[in-house]
Amino acid sequence: MIQTLSDLRTVRFNEQADSVIILDQTLLPGKEAYLTLTTAEEIWDAIYKLKVRGAPAIGVAAAYGIYVCARRIDTTEKSVFRDEFRRIKEYLASSRPTAVNLVAALNRMEQVLVAHPAFSVPEWKGLLYKEAIAIREEDAAACRQIGENCLELLRPGMGILTHCNAGHLAVSEYGTALAPIYLGQERGYGFKLFADETRPLLQGARLTAYELNRAGVDVTLICDNMASIVMRRGWVQAVVVGCDRVAANGDVANKIGTSGVAILARHYKIPFYVLGPTSTIDSSCPDGDSIVIEERNPDEITEMWYSRRMAPKNVKVYNPAFDITPHELITAIITEKGIFYENNR
Ligand code: MRU
Repeated sequence: MIQTLSDLRTVRFNEQADSVIILDQTLLPGKEAYLTLTTAEEIWDAIYKLKVRGAPAIGVAAAYGIYVCARRIDTTEKSVFRDEFRRIKEYLASSRPTAVNLVAALNRMEQVLVAHPAFSVPEWKGLLYKEAIAIREEDAAACRQIGENCLELLRPGMGILTHCNAGHLAVSEYGTALAPIYLGQERGYGFKLFADETRPLLQGARLTAYELNRAGVDVTLICDNMASIVMRRGWVQAVVVGCDRVAANGDVANKIGTSGVAILARHYKIPFYVLGPTSTIDSSCPDGDSIVIEERNPDEITEMWYSRRMAPKNVKVYNPAFDITPHELITAIITEKGIFYENNR
């Protein structure tokens, strides 16, 4: 792992594994501060408010979170334990709707109970701990492999544009879209990154620019509406983005604005790559229109980042957090299992 990032741990257990410690991403880049979460309400709130965010990181936080809550369920009665576990699971799953990793990680945790019906409650708790750790470790391994797979498509010195933050902060280690960038950095590829600021929550400006800078990558921050000019000037040879849910037909939900970048990339004949672990593929979801898009608080647009409100009071606001990039605009989806080209489907 690139040295300058290895001390930033997005999600971890405390020493006794009775709380979850997260890096509060809402305070970056100004402050690196960690929050200790113990109750289901604290974990729900941290996910909802994007203190922990990025599809794989949300999955890991939910898995760690439900373990921490489950170990405090004070019963040896298996049916009581199972009912309470399910209640907490449904509650945590309601914190954000779009990233499939959240509900997938919670389902996987519940599967531990289903697969071992003869086990006692203490034995279940032991297995839940191991499963949570496995989810994190598998994510870290997948991210590294995604990076290796994508690096085959990139050349030293390339200009690369990214949207939102699909980096180290959004996963267990390395990132998805930024994994090839970090591997390239370790191997002297000298990539030149363009980070979209990513309105309205500025994940690009606050998080991507921060972590790339910290790792010594050459990064230039642009407003979202500047992507066209940097592409037109010939400064971008590839686009890399992450994903929150991949539908069975290859449509992808990712941070609001991603589909606009894909349309621009197609216009300028620039390859548009989506990178994500196979845990982000939802084969039960037929297409992008079936993906639930989270809508967030209007304040995020009208006042959150300004010293005074920048829009008239009572103006109507539409604030979808994600959009759908249709599969036709995606050159390839790159997972830990390989590169899947749109034109080979
Ligand atoms: O609202 P966020 O910040 O959780 O949205 C994050 C994204 O859209 C990322 O691109 C996606 O989760 C992939 S993270 C590896």
